[in-house]
Amino acid sequence: MPVKRYLPKKYSGVIILTAVVIITVLGAAAYQFFTNNQELQVERLGKIDANEVDPAVWGQYYPLHYQTYLQNQENTEKPSHFETKPYMEVLYAGLGYANEFNEPRGHVYTLEDIRAIDPSRYKVGASCNTCKSTQIPGLIEKYGDEYYTMSFEQINSQLEHPIGCLDCHNPETMELRISRPALIEAFERQGKDISKATRQEMRSLVCAQCHVTYYFLPGTKKVTFPWDNGVKADQILEYYDQKDFSEWTHPEAGTGLVKPRHAEYEIFLGSTHESAGLACADCHMPYMKIGNTKVSSHYWTSPLKNIEQSCGVCHREGNAWLESRVRDIQDKTKELQDIAGEAMVKAVEQLGLARQTEGVDKELLAKAQEMHRKGQWYLDYVMVTNGYGFHNPTESMNNLGKAIDYAHQAIQLAKDAMDKAN
Ligand code: HEC
Ligand code: HEC
Ligand code: HEC
Ligand code: HEC
Repeated sequence: MPVKRYLPKKYSGVIILTAVVIITVLGAAAYQFFTNNQELQVERLGKIDANEVDPAVWGQYYPLHYQTYLQNQENTEKPSHFETKPYMEVLYAGLGYANEFNEPRGHVYTLEDIRAIDPSRYKVGASCNTCKSTQIPGLIEKYGDEYYTMSFEQINSQLEHPIGCLDCHNPETMELRISRPALIEAFERQGKDISKATRQEMRSLVCAQCHVTYYFLPGTKKVTFPWDNGVKADQILEYYDQKDFSEWTHPEAGTGLVKPRHAEYEIFLGSTHESAGLACADCHMPYMKIGNTKVSSHYWTSPLKNIEQSCGVCHREGNAWLESRVRDIQDKTKELQDIAGEAMVKAVEQLGLARQTEGVDKELLAKAQEMHRKGQWYLDYVMVTNGYGFHNPTESMNNLGKAIDYAHQAIQLAKDAMDKAN
């Protein structure tokens, strides 16, 4: 042992100890590597089938991602929107939404939730299932455009899996993919090719397959994104106005109305964060450390549950400060939303009175209804877009400001129409 000869005896113990420590650390790392390394796992199991709809099968290849996916079960709350926004019931009169409308919860609950909803909501048909299951792209391929005209039951009875891996990933390469035709077609109509999107854009676009506003094209009932003029609230309303499209007529106010839906993607575009280069996945799918591996979290929930990973990578101000900023934006949005909601209910009531007035001035009444249509659009757009204004505080406030003004114009014009009754 040459080492021993040249070193004083007291060091040999240290060397042996150091060697033991190094071997233990390397051994543990190697163990972690071989048990956690997902590439090795994939090689061992072979390929995932190109149409594999069962997330549990993908989970055998990517156990850590699957583990975070299963966490979506923890996101169980789905309170009724009406508890905090009672005016919604008045504004949605005549639509299935007025019978039951709940806030969203985890991605794994989509099928359970759609099956439990008030059946009046199924009248729309098969299209309601489009964002609820990872099997849908396969069924659209199978039935073609006929899919959209089938009944709710005809499609729903075939569904076993909620939102899953195939919705967003190409199983061969694991690259992000767009599986919903409506998004691809909306890009095409705007003269854009979605296959040219950058990786960072894809980290939002996979969400934009569902977290967007849409309508069913009259006639074909095809799910369509109304983005031909652009994705902002004004441009979408202009699109509907140009087409003279109304989704329903309000029974009391007599107004032809249009219904926005969860426009998270649209409102996010142009926000401070989006213009700073962020994508949905930056806040909603942060890297989480599981053992020695970092994976993008597939637990889609409030980023405030993991502020450090979701926001702390850029913001150094601390969790309490960040949460208070979010709550401040949300509380102020909610306050203005309540003011707009109550004003809109008054507009509906005033329109109801005007319509019952004999000899009412028809022209002024029609103008009042036009103001109601605009105002309710802007209000509803903020109301049903998740995040309570956080995704784009200035645009949310801007829309609510317009909603309040249009509501008051509708009230005044309806009164004028009654005053002018002959
Ligand atoms: C709603 C869309 C969506 C669904 C559904 C989805 N993923 Fe992902 N996944 C993403 C995004 C976004 C990323 C980040 C990709 C990037 O940054 O390029 C990602 C990344 C990954 C990665 C790459 C490594 C990493 O951690 O970034 C793997 C592996 C993965 N997902 C597996 C799965 C599995 C397994 C499932 C089903 C249990 C699944 N994903 C479901 C959107 C999704
Ligand atoms: C295939 C459609 C689809 C895709 C793709 C999708 N979502 Fe969802 N998402 C939904 C539906 C539907 C719900 C509501 C589920 C319920 O309540 O049953 C939901 C719920 C959520 C929730 C929970 C909301 C809450 O209040 O708890 C979050 C957060 C979320 N999605 C974020 C994302 C993000 C981020 C992406 C992209 C990485 C994404 N989603 C992609 C359809 C989708
Ligand atoms: C800068 C970070 C950030 C980005 C980027 C972001 N979000 Fe959010 N999101 C939040 C915060 C914060 C909330 C509010 C959570 C709360 O109220 O607890 C939220 C709420 C939500 C909710 C409702 C979840 C709930 O629990 O109420 C959904 C759904 C959602 N976002 C989807 C998206 C989609 C889709 C995108 C991309 C188009 C996106 N978000 C981009 C931070 C972000
Ligand atoms: C990838 C980096 C990044 C992440 C992640 C991020 N932010 Fe930001 N945030 C920015 C940048 C850049 C700005 C604009 C410049 C500034 O104010 O520093 C900003 C601005 C803000 C503002 C002030 C502007 C406004 O719109 O009111 C708030 C509040 C905020 N962020 C909260 C959050 C929260 C909460 C999260 C997590 C849910 C988060 N951010 C995640 C980069 C990020």
